[in-house]
This record gives sequence, C-alpha cells and structure tokens, in this order.
Amino acid sequence: MRILVTGGAGFIASHIVDAYIEDGHDVIVIDNLSTGKRENLNKKAKFYEADIRDKRIEDIFKSEKIDIVNHHAAQIDVRKSVSNPIFDADVNIIGTLNLLENSRKYSVKKFIFASSGGVMYGECERNPKEDDPALPLSPYGISKKVVEDYLRFYRYAYNLDYTVFRYGNVYGPRQDPHGEAGVVAIFSKAMLNNEDVFIFGDGEQLRDYVYVEDIVRANLIALSKGDGEVFNLGTGVSISVNELFKYLKEITGYKKEAIYKPPRLGELQKSKLNVKKAEEMLNWKAETTLREGLEKTVEYFKCNV
Ligand SMILES: NC(=O)c1ccc[n+]([C@@H]2O[C@H](COP(=O)([O-])OP(=O)(O)OC[C@H]3O[C@@H](n4cnc5c(N)ncnc54)[C@H](O)[C@@H]3O)[C@@H](O)[C@H]2O)c1
Repeated sequence: MRILVTGGAGFIASHIVDAYIEDGHDVIVIDNLSTGKRENLNKKAKFYEADIRDKRIEDIFKSEKIDIVNHHAAQIDVRKSVSNPIFDADVNIIGTLNLLENSRKYSVKKFIFASSGGVMYGECERNPKEDDPALPLSPYGISKKVVEDYLRFYRYAYNLDYTVFRYGNVYGPRQDPHGEAGVVAIFSKAMLNNEDVFIFGDGEQLRDYVYVEDIVRANLIALSKGDGEVFNLGTGVSISVNELFKYLKEITGYKKEAIYKPPRLGELQKSKLNVKKAEEMLNWKAETTLREGLEKTVEYFKCNV
C-alpha cells in the first residue's frame, strides 16, 4: 500500500514509518520539522518538508496516489494550546481539514488518526470507555474531539473510512526530552545528566503509560481492521508520577530526590483508560511491561542525551 504518514519525523510516527516500511509498504512522509527531527526519518520513506496547512500539499496527493493517510502531525503541547488556542486550532483542525479535503478529492481509502485518551474524558472516576462522554478541558483536547467529529462526517458523506486511536501517555525512544510533555523522556534525560528532577503537584497524579512499540502494532493492525471505530490505547493500569520517579531512579542509578513544585493549572489528577474494546475488536493488547519499556527508553537516552 501507499501510505502517507504525517508527522513522520516526530516521536511516535517515525516508529510507525519504520514498521510500515518493514512490512513492505511505500511510505510518504509530510513533516514541517517544527518538533520532528531529520535524524528520525527513515531513509526509505519519501520525505516532503511541508506544513499540513499549506495548500500546496494538494500536489503531493495528486502525484503520490495515496491509499491510506496516517495522521500524527500536530501541535501537541496542551499548555501552548491554552495560551494560543488559535494556533492550536489552525494546525490541529484546519491543517487536518486540509488533509481530509485532499483525501476525499484523491480517493484515499482510509484515514488513521492519533487522538488522545488522556485529554478526552476530563476527570473521570472509573476508567473511561470510548462511548463515555468526551469532555475535553483544553483547546488541544477540543481540537482532537472536533477532528473525530469531522472524520465521522467524511465517512458518512464521502465514504472515507477511518480509525481513531485515543492514546494514553506514550513513551519510548525518540521522545523529545526538552518538551513540556513526555515525563519519561524528561526524567530519563535529567537523571542520566545528574540534573534536578521536578515534580509538579504532589506527584500522586495517575497516568496510563504505554510503550511506543505497542502503539505501532495498533497502527499496523489499523491498515486492515477497525474501520469507522474509535479505540482507547493504553495498558489499562495507571501509576503515579512518584512511582515513575522511583522506577527510573532505580534504572538510572540517580541519587538525588525529586524537587516538588506547585501543580500545573489544568492538569488532570487521574487518567487511565478502559482498553477492552481494542482487545476484543483488534486483538490488540499492550505487551510491553512498564519495567521493560522504561529500561529500553533509558538505554536509548544513554546514547542520545
Ligand atoms: N506522545 C503522547 O503521549 C501522545 C498522546 C496522545 C496523542 N498523541 C498524538 O500523537 C501524535 C504524535 O505525537 P508525538 O508525541 O509523536 O509528537 P511529536 O511532536 O514528536 O510529533 C509531531 C510531529 O508533527 C510535526 N508537525 C507539527 N506541526 C506540523 C505541521 N503544521 N505540518 C507538518 N508537520 C507538523 C512535528 O514536526 C513532529 O514531527 C500527535 O498528533 C499527538 O497529539 C501523542
């Protein structure tokens, strides 16, 4: 198949590109390198340095005869979405509409979309399921929800199939340790450099950390399954930031204690996902244990900090 992967120079999608190429597909990447890196690009992929909002991406659709779009390019910073909701909507909504319009025009069969389980359900007592109300509390979460709505429209009106994945907290090699998000990458880098590690709030916030290779497997499955469906992807188990700090401390041999700072506005206290639907319909389950995933991630950052 000919697959367009947007954001293919970034953390998650660069791993997806590798897997699609390994699986024998022709992969075309669009990325504007705003947070992505050239060194993440698979040399066997055809790379276009372009912005998903640019009208000229129509030329790429016209010439590349794309079967499937896997859309991961995004403005991913929740706090930036709060300080600049117009920019967030421009990239995450208008940019995606530009891709959807071209997908419709050039007969793309399916659109796979990276949404977020972490921001979709707001504060929730039990593990939210896909059909629980979407109550995003940030412009970033709102933009993800709006795109999910558009996908339903494009399927209904134009027969463009889709699969939506609502990820938990994805971690692993190539995650940016300099960003605002990605606590595993940030802690790993700081610990390996013997720098201070900061925890915002009391550290008891619960998160569902899922290893990037498990996410990649779901994106392979979505090439042939899950049409018209939304899936939470996580481990179904959550741990606190304090526990995460402790595990990474053991793995890296870090000796200092964490420094606690005031909580960040708008941060959820608890985020974990019900992942039964992906297990039942896609036969997908997160297989990497947290210990294994953290060790692999630290190993990567040892050579890349
Ligand atoms: N990392 C997580 O835990 C997580 C959780 C839920 C959802 N997601 C979603 O997964 C996707 C990938 O996230 P990531 O963590 O790999 O982030 P990332 O920043 O590493 O990847 C995003 C990529 O998109 C590119 N990009 C950004 N704006 C662009 C634009 N206007 N035009 C073209 N390219 C552009 C960036 O250069 C980068 O390579 C995003 O859609 C994100 O919202 C990530």
